[in-house]
Amino acid sequence: MPKRVRIAVFPVAGLGTRFLPATKAMPKEMLPVVDRPLIQYAVDEAKEAGIEHFVFVTGRNKGVIEDHFDRQFELEWTLENRGKLEALEKLRADLPVAGQTSFTRQQEPLGLGHAVWCAREMVGDEPFALLLPDMLFKSTPGVLAQMIAAYEKTGKNVIAVEEVEMGEISSYGVVGRGPGPDEGFEVTEMVEKPTPEDAPSNLIISGRYVLQPEIFSLISRQGKGIGGEIQITDAMQKLLADQGFTGVKYKGRSFDCGSKVGFLSANIAYALERDDISEEFLKELKASALM
Ligand code: UTP
Repeated sequence: MPKRVRIAVFPVAGLGTRFLPATKAMPKEMLPVVDRPLIQYAVDEAKEAGIEHFVFVTGRNKGVIEDHFDRQFELEWTLENRGKLEALEKLRADLPVAGQTSFTRQQEPLGLGHAVWCAREMVGDEPFALLLPDMLFKSTPGVLAQMIAAYEKTGKNVIAVEEVEMGEISSYGVVGRGPGPDEGFEVTEMVEKPTPEDAPSNLIISGRYVLQPEIFSLISRQGKGIGGEIQITDAMQKLLADQGFTGVKYKGRSFDCGSKVGFLSANIAYALERDDISEEFLKELKASALM
């Protein structure tokens, strides 16, 4: 049996420049889809997959993420006194158990690879899950749970992949597909932002990873990549050569909530599934479409 994946890392230190001015003083990861912040969806997904410890790599202006996972006594007291017990119960259900969260700081947004590296002391010598909270996945079971199932069979590094149109391929990290089913196939190569002619497939890396701790020393040895940032893909290419990767073409739908259209689409999809608001919201949508 491979070592159990107990820890998840959430890099939340980026500047969110695609969402300015909303993200000038507020973290992108706190943007709500209906009424839950993006970071809460990612933590829920990790909990469902059996994760026991949540490591957040934060930066300046990200203090509210820490507050979000803390108790808010005044609010709880007020809800209790006003008899809003359902809301109180919901708040308490989302609260991690004491000692289950850790926060570390990426002092400068030097790239995703660097943010992950900042978590090295907290992760130690264990495999860990990496979740980019601005990627939201609507799926049952959750994408990380689907990946952990593949990890338990192979014990390798795992990445979630999804199909895109070939015309869009050069915006993404792309994998080559070897033998095996959608639930767990061999990854033969990883290419960052290829032209459609050079792309080994139409399967892109989509924001969820299970990684072995050797990734940390690989990141520390690499220099800056595309855009002057320390990328994670360069280190993953080395990890692929050394240890191998399993790809999971997950069942479900993704929303890139780091982009405006992805974020707005997620709000529509999630709102239309909510019993308490869907009917009224659909009416509003139809009225807006006729304008
Ligand atoms: P993105 O590239 O989508 O986020 O990184 P960004 O840089 O904040 O956004 P834009 O492109 O400027 O709009 C994916 C995840 O990695 C984190 C981000 O917070 C986000 O959750 N990240 C990125 C870091 O923690 N540190 C970094 O240096 C870069």
